[in-house]
Amino acid sequence: MQTLIHNIKAIVGCHAKEVLLVKGRGMKDLPILENAWLLMEDDRILNMGTGTPPEGTFEQIDAGNGFVFPTWVDSHTHIVYAGNREGEFVDRINGLTYEEIARRGGGILNSAAKLRLASEDELIEAALNRLTNVTKTGTGAVEIKSGYGLTIDAELKMLRVARKLAQLQPLPIRTTLLGAHALPLEYKGNKSGYIQLVCEEMIPRAAEEGLADYIDIFCEEGYFDVADTERVLEAGAKWGLKPKTHVNQFNAIGGVKASVERGAISVDHLEELEDDDIDVLIGSGTIATALPLCSLFLTIPYTPARRLIAAGVPVAIATDYNPGSSPSGNMSLAVALACMKMRMNPEEAINAATINGAAALEWSDQMGSMTLGKKASFFITREMTSYAYLPYSFGDNLISRVFVNGKLVATNS
Ligand code: NIG
Ligand code: FE
Repeated sequence: MQTLIHNIKAIVGCHAKEVLLVKGRGMKDLPILENAWLLMEDDRILNMGTGTPPEGTFEQIDAGNGFVFPTWVDSHTHIVYAGNREGEFVDRINGLTYEEIARRGGGILNSAAKLRLASEDELIEAALNRLTNVTKTGTGAVEIKSGYGLTIDAELKMLRVARKLAQLQPLPIRTTLLGAHALPLEYKGNKSGYIQLVCEEMIPRAAEEGLADYIDIFCEEGYFDVADTERVLEAGAKWGLKPKTHVNQFNAIGGVKASVERGAISVDHLEELEDDDIDVLIGSGTIATALPLCSLFLTIPYTPARRLIAAGVPVAIATDYNPGSSPSGNMSLAVALACMKMRMNPEEAINAATINGAAALEWSDQMGSMTLGKKASFFITREMTSYAYLPYSFGDNLISRVFVNGKLVATNS
């Protein structure tokens, strides 16, 4: 079936087919097509142009002079979880730090205790609600991590839920095994025993059952160190799982180098970034993923995007949606924060949330830009004066309709 979208003020992110990632000065290149129309066939973008739209017996959609953007690609979430942690939020308001809460048995272990008690059906229902909500703010594809199970059964349960979600709702999903997210209580004092369990049992089971696309570890003081990171990433590599890692959130301890040397697709967080870390990233092909909602929620530094962009490192933006450090999956807000707090230009932030987010999931040949032949995953905005108005009017949802793979999946009145 062919559908024509007409009366578009501009289509944003019309990258050429060969552009699968942008970096350095290229991060500011955001090709647009003004006074435009868009023709889609089934789930694909068939044609685009300016001026008078083609004639034919298409289904017609009037964009109302709004903008068309490629849907956001949220390349880092922990959207499968049980319960919430607003008690810890209040504890932090009253002066405790994230690390202090974790040391008292809160944090990731708090979520792990809740998740182990939850059934697959309960987890699916809660995550489906979250996915429906993020779709309304323009997200068209997500990555989902495990990491709140911390036993073989519970980690595999999380990944099975993530795989089922891909069948139950329209957004495409990539999954990541994050068994080494925190040391579970049963292994207190025996970190190497837990790492052995992750490497020798969890990774092989997840890979054999086809449940994981990537391998992750929380490389951080008080969690897992560089030697643990090397062991886990190398065990993942044996099973074809490429790294996407949590590094440099609170301390720079060498996680960037360990990940980049092992072919990481992305290194995520990077709130504490040393020059050596940037040197390692230059020319590596690894994407630096910033998580501005986490910086906002935990009141920690923002990832130094300007330093990364100046060094020619590709930057992506994701939400980190999780109950402890970012209980929001609002990519539009993440883009606005990237502009306001990381001094990214709107063009850079939009690219970071679309084409580079897609690249951080090895999906930029299919999505992340408005390019002929790619998936028809895009959103239509209300009338706006320019595309910069979207991050400028932060907190408002200016997205009126969201399409994923050619299908209307959300309408905001
Ligand atoms: O990406 N930093 C590690 N993991 C999550 C937070 C986990 C939690 O607090 O539940 C993050 O911020
Ligand atoms: Fe995270």
